[in-house]
Amino acid sequence: MATLVGGLGTSHVPAIGAAIDQGTTQDAYWKPLFDGVEPAREWIAALKPDVVIVVYNDHASRFGLDLVPTFALGVGAQFAPHDEGYGPRPVPVCRGNPDFGWHLVESLVLKDEFDITIVNEMTVDHGCTVPLSLAFGQPQEWPCEVIPLCVNLIQYPPPTGNRCYQLGKAIRRAIDSYDKDLRIVIFGTGGLSHQLQGERAGLINTAYDTMWLDRFVADPAPLAQIGHTELLRELGSEGLEVIMWLIMRGAMDAHVKQVHRFYHVPASNTAYGLLVLENA
Ligand code: DHB
Ligand code: FE
Repeated sequence: MATLVGGLGTSHVPAIGAAIDQGTTQDAYWKPLFDGVEPAREWIAALKPDVVIVVYNDHASRFGLDLVPTFALGVGAQFAPHDEGYGPRPVPVCRGNPDFGWHLVESLVLKDEFDITIVNEMTVDHGCTVPLSLAFGQPQEWPCEVIPLCVNLIQYPPPTGNRCYQLGKAIRRAIDSYDKDLRIVIFGTGGLSHQLQGERAGLINTAYDTMWLDRFVADPAPLAQIGHTELLRELGSEGLEVIMWLIMRGAMDAHVKQVHRFYHVPASNTAYGLLVLENA
């Protein structure tokens, strides 16, 4: 039986990846952030998951405006880091798990009627690689297999928060019905408040981020009912990425234990948030 052993929520700011790649994590600017992430690294090193499902948005890298899947799941054997304009990040190629990937797709499409886009070949951008670097540092190989799950946050309309929350619950049913002994962790990535463009560029809303983190742990269902308009107003245009955390939360039990929480401003132009959860 496969088991979901943990959930991790984290921002996926590309500058964090650059700090790791360029060896500047101990500089005055970055040290507080990496110190705050350290307990999550120790947690996952001890947990030793076999597979991590990384929920993230592709930032017009593998996909583009010519093709915008709402939910796309990687069933391939490997996923290389995407060249986002500065060469691919010097991180390992993700090893996939096609058998488990196809099980997820079959369960989601046939049992829960989520019409997931099935992706055999894909590269993964900072949305996926930065959380992996934060969790695992700079190994020669990622210490587990990776299933990338892309959510559209690029072209309006993205899915609702509730659709994401329900998808998380469906992913949990798929995990629980997989007959191989796999220990699985799910990452929800993106956010917290940030807006990278337009008149409100630089927006950070610590009060709303704090509310989100508080309620996310204790009582997430109402968060899934918040509409795009409120999220865009309060968290900024790119802050809408927080809906991907709801996929992770939906997959976890209703009652969870908060293992670690960290919040730090600024990380580049973004409010950095981190939550580590275990089923209670
Ligand atoms: C930036 C990009 C992101 O995708 C994100 O989630 C946060 C910040 C950036 O370009 O700074
Ligand atoms: Fe992003």
